[in-house]
Amino acid sequence: MRKKLYQREHNTLAEDKLTVKKLEFNHRKNKEQDHTELLDSSAKSFNYQDCKGEYWNPEKFSLLYGTPLWDQASANERVLLNQIYWVAYYAQIISAEIATIFFNQTAAAGLFGLEDFRLVCETLDFESMQERAHIDAFKVIGEQFEEEVFGERIFTYPMRPYFYETMIFQKTNMIKKFWKSIQLRSYSLLSSGNAFIGCQYLTVRGLRTLNGKIVQHQLSKYYTDHEDKENAPIPSKVSYYHFMDESYHFNSSNIIGSDIIKNLKKPTAFESFIANLGIKGTLKDHSNFNISVNGIFWYEPAIFETLLKLLTTKVFGMSEKDAIHILKECFTKENQGIVEAFETHQTALESYRNYLSNIEYVSKSNKNGGAMNKTSIENYLTENRRQFFEFERKKNVA
Ligand SMILES: [Fe+2]
Ligand SMILES: [Fe+2]
Repeated sequence: MRKKLYQREHNTLAEDKLTVKKLEFNHRKNKEQDHTELLDSSAKSFNYQDCKGEYWNPEKFSLLYGTPLWDQASANERVLLNQIYWVAYYAQIISAEIATIFFNQTAAAGLFGLEDFRLVCETLDFESMQERAHIDAFKVIGEQFEEEVFGERIFTYPMRPYFYETMIFQKTNMIKKFWKSIQLRSYSLLSSGNAFIGCQYLTVRGLRTLNGKIVQHQLSKYYTDHEDKENAPIPSKVSYYHFMDESYHFNSSNIIGSDIIKNLKKPTAFESFIANLGIKGTLKDHSNFNISVNGIFWYEPAIFETLLKLLTTKVFGMSEKDAIHILKECFTKENQGIVEAFETHQTALESYRNYLSNIEYVSKSNKNGGAMNKTSIENYLTENRRQFFEFERKKNVA
């Protein structure tokens, strides 16, 4: 007997009713509670003068919190360190979200070639639209802050294409940067033409969002715990609105990268290889921790120069010699900041392991945390000491 047209060759998404229901619910809720307008109006009405005297995050989310620099900072300087954390943190999120918008689109292109994937694609389209509003709000606030306080860029940067290194402060060089951009471009080609890789991108996105979720939930608390919400500093509102949108993005990453992927044909050896390479790279990207902005996995020595520039501005008014001295204290000797940043890293590692544990194609070493396993306070200090020695030598102050 001939098959009817609607009888499919293998399991289809429409047959997985529970997953479709989850996805529909998540998409509908996200649209209902969408924070785009609130973010746009917050960015429009942001005026640094209105909130210059107040923290924008809970205190422990301040630049170099728990370090000797923090201990010796005046109350005014602490407010600034808290606000700079906000600007630096979201400068990193802008970079990640520029890439997200692009890969949402290539993944959707790959997935639309399958039956029943319209809802998945529309979910991704809607999220990309939200990411643009997120980027706008972070950028307007970060740039106005740096313009008014320093008169120049410290952590912000002009818009840039998706194939730049996603981590702003990374252990890299020109060759590695070039290679990374080739990898990212090849991955985008693969994901736009291959449903499995397209779906798998959402697994990687889920990992990255998971890290964001851990920190952004805490950042949003400044607003949720604020006694006078209406008059809370606008950046703290932006943290909250953003976290609200992102919680839906995390759910959809989870549904697409863990549940929907099960409905696809089993990956070929090549597809599994590419997929594991993507996860391995993410785990490698997250194998550093830093105490400058606890919660982002930047490579600390890559930030030395920026912090020196920051501390020698008129605002902090340090001489180069004094600034180098205090940075050395912060980065080469154990302190509370290091303990706390390492803790954040370990929490992320644990949650990544959980997240990857049920995904079939993921290799054993990736399931175990890949390069993140080697991270320790001891290695962090050894690397910092070596790099700081070089840094001092270049500055001729050793
Ligand atoms: Fe976002
Ligand atoms: Fe997102």
